[in-house]
Amino acid sequence: MSEKFVPQIVGFCCKYCAYAAADLAGSMRLSYPSSLKIIQVPCTGRIDIIHILKTIEEGADGVMVAGCLEGECHFLEGNFKAKSRVEHVKTILSRIKMNPDRVEMFNLSSAMGPRFAEIASEMTERIKELGPSPVPKTKLRNPEAGAEC
Ligand code: FES
Repeated sequence: MSEKFVPQIVGFCCKYCAYAAADLAGSMRLSYPSSLKIIQVPCTGRIDIIHILKTIEEGADGVMVAGCLEGECHFLEGNFKAKSRVEHVKTILSRIKMNPDRVEMFNLSSAMGPRFAEIASEMTERIKELGPSPVPKTKLRNPEAGAEC
């Protein structure tokens, strides 16, 4: 694999836990790879299957969904819904012959800044090993192409 491959990973992070953990990691001056682009969401239960698939379609090499610890979702079962949707996406990726490890769900508390940095590094290493996504690159690789909703 080329040493120059820098993965593009999108992290959908719940604002109550994973996003706060990322913030804490920053406050603690812990470094984690810049390959991870964080999108704050109110709860991982808001992430639907189509959001993950669209992210991959638009060029992400990997996607992580990071929510509250199980049993601690502020919306009761949002993270369980997200877990189920991530598993469903993995099944879809397998069926289209893409490695399902490109997508992963994590659970964190807001106090787990060091764990967040570890997860970001682990996910980056995993995607580096898998190599670039086989999906042709579009907007994520070429921001000047503009964003469409
Ligand atoms: Fe954090 Fe639901 S509020 S996953």
